[in-house]
Order: sequence, then C-alpha cells, then structure tokens
Amino acid sequence: MPSFGENELSRRDVMAGATACAALAAVPARAEGRPDAAGPDRPVLAKVSLTVNGQRRELELDTRTSLLDAAREHLHLTGSKKGCDHGQCGACTMIVDGRRINACLTLAVMHQGSEITTIEGLGQPENLHPMQAAFIKHDGYQCGYCTPGQICSGVAVLAEIKAGIPSHVTADLNAPMQVTDAEIRERMSGNICRCGAYSNIVEAMTEVAGRPA
Ligand code: FES
Ligand code: FES
Repeated sequence: MPSFGENELSRRDVMAGATACAALAAVPARAEGRPDAAGPDRPVLAKVSLTVNGQRRELELDTRTSLLDAAREHLHLTGSKKGCDHGQCGACTMIVDGRRINACLTLAVMHQGSEITTIEGLGQPENLHPMQAAFIKHDGYQCGYCTPGQICSGVAVLAEIKAGIPSHVTADLNAPMQVTDAEIRERMSGNICRCGAYSNIVEAMTEVAGRPA
C-alpha cells in the first residue's frame, strides 16, 4: 500500500509530464529547425525596386509588407500616417504613378518600378508645395495627423479634375470640369479628419485650384 508521500509524488510526476507535452506542442516548427518547417507564417522575401520621391530605392521585403509599412518602417518616411490600417481613413494616402492610393491597403511588391510620392516629396519647409502653403494659410488642420494624407489627396484630386475625370457628383459629363465645393467634398470623402477641419481644407484646395476661396 503506497504511503501518502508516494501518492503525492506520483501526482506531481503526471502533472509535470503533461505540462512538458503542452509546451512542446506550442513550439513552432520553425523554432525547432526542422527541414519541413515551412508554414503559412514563414516570411517569403522578395526584392522590390521603387522610386520614392525621385530616388530609386531597392528593398528586400516580406511579401506581406504593405506599401505604408515599407515607407514607414523600411525607408523611415514617417510622414504618411497609419490611422485605421483598413482603408477607411485616408491618413496613409500617397500618390502612386499619379493616382492617390491608400498605402495601407496595397502590398509594396505590387508596385515594382512605381513612382511614389509621399508628403516628404511634395515640398520642404523652406520650399512648400502650394497645397502645403494653402493648408497653413487656411488652417486646414488642427492636430495634423490626417494632414499628410489630406494634402496628397488634395494634390491628386485637383489633377483628376484638371484631367476631366468625372466623379459621382459631376452633373454634366460633356461640360468642362469645374472645381466646385461639391466636387472637392465628394472626391475628398475618403480622407477623414477627426478634428473637423473640412471647410478649411475645401478653402485651401479652392485657392490652389485658382478659384477665389
Ligand atoms: Fe490607410 Fe486608414 S491608415 S486608410
Ligand atoms: Fe486632426 Fe485632421 S487635423 S485629424
């Protein structure tokens, strides 16, 4: 008949064995260094060549890296902001091959050879882009978090209107395109400003478009 002490030891042994099994199961195959360790979480690297703000940049990235993370984490261009990371706020907007794009929603490897402009490439403190200067003049921001995306969108939106690309609110597709408040508000509706600087942003864009604000 086992003593009380022997029974206690036996229970401890069982517990220790079970814990060791659970820990082993939790170790990823990759950490074990097994040759068959390929799994869905194993990074696949790819070389990507981008022209960012006029400079050729060569990167080797995990193919799952968004264009936003490539700029912020790999190129240290932190002007483009990560707001929602889900394509809903516009804080990450960049201009890619002349079109505005939510950089959080696109993979860097999809832009091999693309020309990319971030807020850092639009102007410099001593030589502001007209849209940056107009945002300052019209107080088109408060906290400034959405502002890089707003400015990149604003530049691309005016180019769209100038190119005659219609929007949902364009009434007459045959008439020359006008930079109206309605056109600006519709086209900028993907750029959210929690500070509510919308009316000042419209004024800034109107001035850059050459219409009296
Ligand atoms: Fe890209 Fe919000 S961070 S849309
Ligand atoms: Fe603060 Fe737009 S200025 S979110």
